[in-house]
Amino acid sequence: MARPFYLTTPIYYVNDAPHIGHAYTTVNCDAVARWHRLLGDDTFFLTGTDEHGLKIQRAAEAAGLTPKEMADRTSERFREAWAQLDISNDDFIRTSEPRHYTAVQALLSKIRENGHIELDSYEGMYCVSCEDYYTDAQAPDGNCPIHGRPLETLAEENYFFRLSRFEQPLLEWYEANPDCVVPATKRNEALGFIKQGLQDISITRTSIDWGVPVPWDDRHVFYVWYDALINYCTAVGYGTDQARFDRYWPAVHHVIGKEIIRFHCVWWPAMLMAAGLEPPQQVHVHGWLLVGGEKMSKTKLNHIAPADLVEDFGVEGYRYHFLRDVAFGNDGDFSYEGMVQRYNTDLANNLGNLLSRVATVVGKKCDGVGPAPRADSPLAAVAADVYAATADAWERLVPSEALEATWRLIREANAHLEANEPWKRDPGPDVEAVLGDALEVLRIVSVLASPALPATTRHIWSRIGLPGTPQEQRLPDAAAWGGYPGGLPVTKGEPLFPRLAV
Ligand code: MSP
Repeated sequence: MARPFYLTTPIYYVNDAPHIGHAYTTVNCDAVARWHRLLGDDTFFLTGTDEHGLKIQRAAEAAGLTPKEMADRTSERFREAWAQLDISNDDFIRTSEPRHYTAVQALLSKIRENGHIELDSYEGMYCVSCEDYYTDAQAPDGNCPIHGRPLETLAEENYFFRLSRFEQPLLEWYEANPDCVVPATKRNEALGFIKQGLQDISITRTSIDWGVPVPWDDRHVFYVWYDALINYCTAVGYGTDQARFDRYWPAVHHVIGKEIIRFHCVWWPAMLMAAGLEPPQQVHVHGWLLVGGEKMSKTKLNHIAPADLVEDFGVEGYRYHFLRDVAFGNDGDFSYEGMVQRYNTDLANNLGNLLSRVATVVGKKCDGVGPAPRADSPLAAVAADVYAATADAWERLVPSEALEATWRLIREANAHLEANEPWKRDPGPDVEAVLGDALEVLRIVSVLASPALPATTRHIWSRIGLPGTPQEQRLPDAAAWGGYPGGLPVTKGEPLFPRLAV
């Protein structure tokens, strides 16, 4: 049986248009999902939109729309942005869908039946942007520690989730699963929250009606975060398709930005435990993509839409940059100049040149028929090392390292060509072997780079005469040296990535 691999992005709020920060998470997840498909894993990749809550209700009012109209519009914009970036999500969830209401009501009813949800009253300082309360200790000046804006006092009689009871079970879960949150710095941050002591959380609201109704008390709707997290269960059939749920849960990997650690690494595993379910297999936390040193936000108007950059770099140039240059983990500043440089070096020069040189010389010296590689090529060992390093990095969800490793093979193949100069007037008896080795590198690289560059690698695959697509290949076999059979038509064509002016 194929190994289940369930991968999720956060679901994005619909008050804001898609920007390169959202796309950063989504493109990285997309590439990871594509890698797992190459491995033959039973992969399920989910993204979607988070549509309830006060923030959306207010944004809709300001725009003269109903919350549903606002959600319909923005959700569609996210779908379009992901289609443009060639995102291969298997599902797109919207929290306003009936299937989600069913799952939320079923899961929270289960937690209540288990005795962990009770009616209580609460007054606290609330940030509408975070949709979260803060204590005096967390916000000593009365301003939100994330958004810097004044907190509002909210008083409500609400249903509470008894999060405080889960301090010990959470600590035990962290102890027993050293890699449940990566990287380690973020795991420590999550543990820090738990060790500070956990307070019960108000999980319903009577003050708004844009939310999932509480099934046992129709005066209330669920608080947006409590409905949102459950999307991960909805999409694999919680409450509607038990067999499907069992197939993918708990083989789930959540990828999130660092600002939502508390929700995913404290609340969420506790909720799942309270419902009698397994916590997620792993939460991967990444840093922020900064523009001019700051996080993009609607209020700061420092948005860059993916489409703005696709115009200049193409979809594949876009994907490659955000996978290769902004290492998953730390914050990284977006730089247009850096993007041009990366495109020119890795795509135009290294990869583009390798293909065009090989195709040109095969045209001239071999009548356009690609020769087979040598079994004892010096590049065979490099390819084996590169595969090991590439696979290891994708497995750890570090696309930048995976691509760095794959590009080593491209550079070595170019160096091999330069050392042997098959384009010389009299290149010697090894010309066919040298070209065969380079074609074999192009074949292997097409498979290894296909998660990042799905269209380019399909194109290279057919230019070197191979049938099918790199996406249909299966690893590790497809990375083994010697797969290019020789005797295939190699076509010259337009440059893959025309150089950009700096
Ligand atoms: N709706 C919640 C998530 C609920 S998940 C059950 C939310 N939405 S959001 O629209 O604000 O998206 C936040 C996520 O988008 C971040 O966690 C991150 O994955 C991504 N990013 C948004 N801006 C980003 C950057 N500037 N840099 C990196 N990632 C960014 O929070």
